[in-house]
Amino acid sequence: MSEIADLFQEYAELGGAVQRRIIEIDNRPARAKRLRRFSLREAARYLGLDEPALRRRLQDPDAPQGERAGLTGRTFALGEIGALRRHLRDATGEPCFAPGRGTGEGLQVVALSNFKGGAAKTTTALHLAQYLALRGYAVLLVDLDSQASATAALGLGPDDDVGADGTLHPYFAGRIDTLAPLVRPTYWPGLDLIPANLGLYRVELELPLRQREEPGFRFWRLLEQGLATVAGRYDVVVCDCPPSLGYLSLNALFAATGLVVPAPPSMPDFASTARFFQMMADTLRDVAAFEGEAKRLDFVRILITKLNTADRNHRRIAGWMESTFAGRVLKERMAATTALDMAGNVKRTLYELEPGPGSRRSFERALDYMDGVNGAIEGLLRAAWGREGAA
Ligand SMILES: Nc1ncnc2c1ncn2[C@@H]1O[C@H](COP(=O)(O)OP(=O)(O)OP(=O)(O)O)[C@@H](O)[C@H]1O
Ligand SMILES: [Mg+2]
Repeated sequence: MSEIADLFQEYAELGGAVQRRIIEIDNRPARAKRLRRFSLREAARYLGLDEPALRRRLQDPDAPQGERAGLTGRTFALGEIGALRRHLRDATGEPCFAPGRGTGEGLQVVALSNFKGGAAKTTTALHLAQYLALRGYAVLLVDLDSQASATAALGLGPDDDVGADGTLHPYFAGRIDTLAPLVRPTYWPGLDLIPANLGLYRVELELPLRQREEPGFRFWRLLEQGLATVAGRYDVVVCDCPPSLGYLSLNALFAATGLVVPAPPSMPDFASTARFFQMMADTLRDVAAFEGEAKRLDFVRILITKLNTADRNHRRIAGWMESTFAGRVLKERMAATTALDMAGNVKRTLYELEPGPGSRRSFERALDYMDGVNGAIEGLLRAAWGREGAA
């Protein structure tokens, strides 16, 4: 038996070496991420204005002007959109330029969870987190998946840059009692990250031990308690969950104020999404019986992902999902797009990718879908804060 274990150990180490090599190449300084600039139309969109309105506001010479492009165009760096928003907030006092939460508005924690692998949890989490930061919210992305794909996408080498004590592991092991030392800024203004790496998986083995040994211990409440220690700094926390309903995913579920379940509209994917809800129902009932109080969520939505709009079967299943789950499926869907596929291959998000001339249309279509989905989730957050005019 131990020979097989030794063999697998060797495979694991070789796999780790390949992974490190890929990350090392991707993160070489020459290929370090240079963020693209945003067009005037895009800047207007993320500021919540239409283009003529932004042009009018830019007549104020004190407003950050971005850079001229062509005769009438302008482009803005990501940071300049933030600076422009702050300028407009100070100059006008209009609440739309100060989107962060105010008194009485609690921290929103959105969990992206489904135990089906490859359902687009990480893609959704990354794009949602970047979008919300772009819209002016203070955002924390928590990587709860030991595969660490969100961590790597944000430019950190899971082994070399993160280290054994850089993930949630020391917190779940009871060695630290605040998440503050785990939070790292990212290259994306307004977005912080608690990274993951393979070592995070130990939580799945260690938490049941702690549960047996420590009287009164409630393993499922740890992340919620941890987030409370950094809540003051953020408006929204986005949790990228692993493809399982283990101890880490359960912590995200109990920390969450909103749950989004990404689900591609195909038969096997959908069958496992249904089982996922069954398992959550059973667990929530057990915990409610133990705690004497039921877990509350401000919203739960299924998000149709990777919808192949040219495939009749996909469209049909998506239609059934919508009619059967009336109101519980997000009306906005994420289509399968070559632009997103390509972006994933070069470890960029749609908000980072600079489309070539030949791919601009497909890129814009993908971005429209993504902004539609993210805007809808933003609407749910605003509704949870009880804001007027929210979705
Ligand atoms: N709308 C889309 N169009 C095209 N490709 C997509 C789309 N959404 C996701 N993908 C691709 O599908 C793959 C799986 O996506 P992702 O990693 O987000 O899923 P996941 O649910 O996080 O997976 P895991 O369960 O392994 O954590 C990735 O290669 C991603 O680029
Ligand atoms: Mg993932």
